[in-house]
Amino acid sequence: EKRTRIDQVLATKPIGEIITVKGWVRSFRNNQFIAVNDGSDFDSLQIVINRESLSSDTLKKIHPGAAVGAKGTLTESQGRGQAVELKADELIVYGEADPETYPIQPKKHTKEFLRENAHLRFRTNTFGAIFRIRHELSYAIHKFFHERKFYYLHSPIITASDAEGAGEMFRVTTLDPNNPPLTTDGQVDLKKDFFGRETNLTVSGQLEAELAALALGQVYTFGPTFRAENSHTSRHLAEFWMVEPEVAFNDINDNMDLAEDMLKYLINYVLEHCRKDLQFLHNAAEKEDSQKPKNQRPDMGLIDRLEFCLEQDFARITYTEAIDILMNSKPNKKKKFNYVIEGWGADLQSEHERYLVEKHFKKPVILYNYPKDIKSFYMKVNDDNKTVRAMDILFPGIGEIIGGSEREENLDVLKSRMKEMNIPMEELYWYLDIRKYGSCPHSGYGLGFERMVQFVTGMSNIRDVIPFPRTPGNASF
Ligand code: 4AD
Ligand code: MG
Repeated sequence: EKRTRIDQVLATKPIGEIITVKGWVRSFRNNQFIAVNDGSDFDSLQIVINRESLSSDTLKKIHPGAAVGAKGTLTESQGRGQAVELKADELIVYGEADPETYPIQPKKHTKEFLRENAHLRFRTNTFGAIFRIRHELSYAIHKFFHERKFYYLHSPIITASDAEGAGEMFRVTTLDPNNPPLTTDGQVDLKKDFFGRETNLTVSGQLEAELAALALGQVYTFGPTFRAENSHTSRHLAEFWMVEPEVAFNDINDNMDLAEDMLKYLINYVLEHCRKDLQFLHNAAEKEDSQKPKNQRPDMGLIDRLEFCLEQDFARITYTEAIDILMNSKPNKKKKFNYVIEGWGADLQSEHERYLVEKHFKKPVILYNYPKDIKSFYMKVNDDNKTVRAMDILFPGIGEIIGGSEREENLDVLKSRMKEMNIPMEELYWYLDIRKYGSCPHSGYGLGFERMVQFVTGMSNIRDVIPFPRTPGNASF
């Protein structure tokens, strides 16, 4: 029997028509009302079963989690909470779910519990909403760049270079770790490895995006990236998705404009296209927050926060100005920060970033012109020879959501920066070549996709916005 998706049923309300729906039981009340959800919509459809026409055997199989199909007439609902319901004449149970062992019951589960049952958490209201929003957000990213005539560049996942120069890469090898081939002087013979050399999972598609941008004009990547950093925080994953636009002839200010436009476009898209899911997450967060002590409650609800962000020009300040603000801030003077800022040159921790955003400016902040010693080798050095044209965008509740820069396009300056920072030059000959042939100013940035999903869904833990999180010590599937 051809099924009708429940979102269609709820949107078009074909009263009087005979239709078939298929999905999973969310709840079963009074031996008569089944709430069926098929993932197409936040809402479930109420199925009213005709007990006379059902065998008692079938009736016994209806429990939360079971997969069912129902055929019948769509009618106006007498009950509260729904406009329509399906009067089912036929009901099939495709697959049972033993109520003694099925973990997802029609009640509130903690996020920790659901993380342990990540294989089944898709079946909850919360994770249904999150993953629908995640989908819409990825579509909106492609739409934004497509509308602006950017090309989607598929950068490699296996690479031979460390794009960030931070040494946090996962090795890729086909050699047997217990019995690797050795050279005559007893070293592991990398020539015998699959690629004939050392390879890793990519930490960023930026360097490849630069090659393409200096020919195609403007490109973006959107793919998985990998970092073997041993961070146990609510904002770090070992495998995360990054969006990296790169534009020829853009300087750092153009770069900030593009990033701010993009973030607002994405927020607006989700507000327009994910209303039901957002409203549910908004209400759930409000309920949770109302149980917190007053001083820990956020000053805005989820949807209000998104709308508020759209209305603001992001603050744009230099690193030097930020250090000034932080040095004069109460938590720094009273040594309330875990890392007290001693002066210019200090790397900012997330507590400092969040102070600037949440306490000082109370809106998103773009920080630029960082000390060169705390940033990557490829960033353009300013005339002061102390700072580079880096920019980070800081968001409320998240901290750094975007990191980017204008790139060093001068071959000699880039070479001396690489030397200073011990970046292997021979291996990156291809990266240097685009400075040798037709070099030009260019800029780009990376948006941490999961941090963006965190921001729009209000989830405090990054593990709850990616279907199968990878973190230190955790890769269960
Ligand atoms: O600041 P990052 O390291 O910048 C780059 O990788 C540049 N190559 C980007 C570019 O200019 N094309 O990372 C960019 C963003 C961060 O701002 C953060 O949002 C996210 O990626 N990110 C992570 N997200 C989740 N887990 C991690 N371990 C992350 N590391 C970075
Ligand atoms: Mg960064």
